[in-house]
Amino acid sequence: MEWSARDRAAKVGRDGRGGFGEGTGGMKHVRFGRGRFLVFEGVEGAGKSTQLPLVERRLGDAGVRTLTTREPGGTPLGESLRAVLLDPRFTGMSPTAELLVMFAARAEHLAKVIEPALAAGTWVLCDRFTDATFAYQGGGRGVDAARIAALEETVQGRVRPDLVLVLDVPVEVGLARAGRRRQMPMDLPDAPTWTGSAPDAADRFEREDVDFFRRVREVYLERARARPERYAIIDASADEETTAERVLTTISERLPYRRHSTRQSYEAGI
Ligand code: TMP
Repeated sequence: MEWSARDRAAKVGRDGRGGFGEGTGGMKHVRFGRGRFLVFEGVEGAGKSTQLPLVERRLGDAGVRTLTTREPGGTPLGESLRAVLLDPRFTGMSPTAELLVMFAARAEHLAKVIEPALAAGTWVLCDRFTDATFAYQGGGRGVDAARIAALEETVQGRVRPDLVLVLDVPVEVGLARAGRRRQMPMDLPDAPTWTGSAPDAADRFEREDVDFFRRVREVYLERARARPERYAIIDASADEETTAERVLTTISERLPYRRHSTRQSYEAGI
């Protein structure tokens, strides 16, 4: 499987199973509850890929078993569909085709990775999920939200994130960061060229104009304000450390967990 430059920090579902179930040897007496489902959202350059590994590490230090994954992607099929979705050669793809491919990748991801992990008590940290569809296909492309909601129901049933962290930055700030990231030298030997274009080329979404991303951001904020119990809007315009503190504080307040230091296990504190 090939990976883009932005994947350097992510270890996302490379084997299509994600490696969950680790660290449970000799723990048969411990009854794990269902894992928590955390989603990171935001416009391009909001800092998701920087924050996700920090959260993964902090939760791991507290004895919480996690799986980090992403959308579109997270499975071999999903990563192949991602390559199609991001490929600038398909500029002008029909919005309905784009919507259905997003949900096709999501169906596979849920069945093969997300649901088994949650059932095993693993916390799933997901870089984007269905809010991105409402924001990009709904806000960006103008697809009717009711059509997206119908697919959400069909594909996900009752599965919804426990917490969606919307990393919020002004669109201009995010796009400037994303532009700088593309120009950074790659430090992975397997850093790929999945589109067949230069590795620092903007993908099909990154080529959209500022107004597209303003609509995307507006949908994220509207959805977050409408369901404050499920969402947290994090001001991500500050430096990485400040944003990381905001993210970690929000998670521990909203999804408290306790460490069982002697057993190396955890229990959701709710
Ligand atoms: P990424 O840049 O965060 O890896 O995400 C890839 C792109 O896919 C990003 O521009 C947002 C877009 N996207 C959608 O348009 N709809 C979706 O449902 C998802 C998950 C991502």
